[in-house]
Amino acid sequence: MGARSPLWPATLHHLRIDSAQPEAMAEFYARVFGLVRHELADGTLALVGGQRRVLIGRGRGKSLNFGAYAVRDQAQLEALRGYIREQGVPVLPAPPCLFREGAMTVADPDGRRVVFGLPREDAGSDARPGRLQHLVVTSRDVAAVAAFYGEALGFVLSDRVLRDNGECTTCFYRSDPEHHSFAVFQADEVRLDHHSVEVPTWNDVRDWGDYLASLRIGIDWGPGRHGPGNNLFFMLRDPDDNWIEISQDLERMPREMVARDWPHTEYTLNTWGRGVLRS
Ligand SMILES: [Fe+2]
Repeated sequence: MGARSPLWPATLHHLRIDSAQPEAMAEFYARVFGLVRHELADGTLALVGGQRRVLIGRGRGKSLNFGAYAVRDQAQLEALRGYIREQGVPVLPAPPCLFREGAMTVADPDGRRVVFGLPREDAGSDARPGRLQHLVVTSRDVAAVAAFYGEALGFVLSDRVLRDNGECTTCFYRSDPEHHSFAVFQADEVRLDHHSVEVPTWNDVRDWGDYLASLRIGIDWGPGRHGPGNNLFFMLRDPDDNWIEISQDLERMPREMVARDWPHTEYTLNTWGRGVLRS
C-alpha cells in the first residue's frame, strides 16, 4: 500500500515537544541551540532558527505532541491528503505550527500527531551549523505504529531491529533519501526518545562538543556510530531529560533500496561501544 503514497519526498521541518516546564525548556533550546523565541496563537512557544525549529507546549513531559514534515509543493500536499483519506485515516486540520494555512494532521496509534504542510518563509541563519533531521519515539506497540507510518502514510522502511525470536524492536523509516526521518523503538512507555540535528562535517561534531563543554553541558551517550543509519553521533539531554542527538554522516538510501535486518544487540545501537537498549 505504502508504495503508492505521494509522501516522498518529505523532510522533518519542526516538532512540538510537550513539557510540564515549558519556560525552562524554551530557555534551554533558545540559549543552547541559538533559536529565536516567539509564541504561536495558542501560547505554544516557538524556538526558530535557520535550519532547526522546536515548539514547546504545555503538557505531559517527555512527550512528542507532533512531528511536522514539509512536502515540496501544494500539488504534493493535496495528493497526500487524498491518499491518506483513501487509506481510511481521518485527516484533521493542523494545530498552530510553523506551516502555512492548509496544512493537515493525522493521529498515529499512540495518539501522537503528524502534520504535513508547506513552510512559511524561514528567517535568519544559525550561528552553529546543524539542521533538524529526524525524530524517534518509543511505543508499547511497534507493529501498530510501523503499520501506520509504513502503510497508511507511506514512509519507506530502511532497517528493522529484530530479537532472536523475530520480534521487531525498532523500525527506521525514511521519507527522502536520508536513512530515517522517523523511527520507533519498543519500550514499556510511550514517549519522545530523541530528535536529531545533522551537522555538515565530523569537525562540527567536535565543535559542538567543545561548545557544549563551554556551557558545562556534558555528553550523555557517545560519541559512537549507529549500525542502522551508520551515523556518527552523541546525545545530550534537555531539561526534561529528552535526548537531543548531534549526528553526522547519516547514510543515504534510494527510495527503491530494500530494508535490512539487524540483531537486537548493543553493537547495533553503537558499533563503537556502549549501546543503550530501550527494551
Ligand atoms: Fe537518532
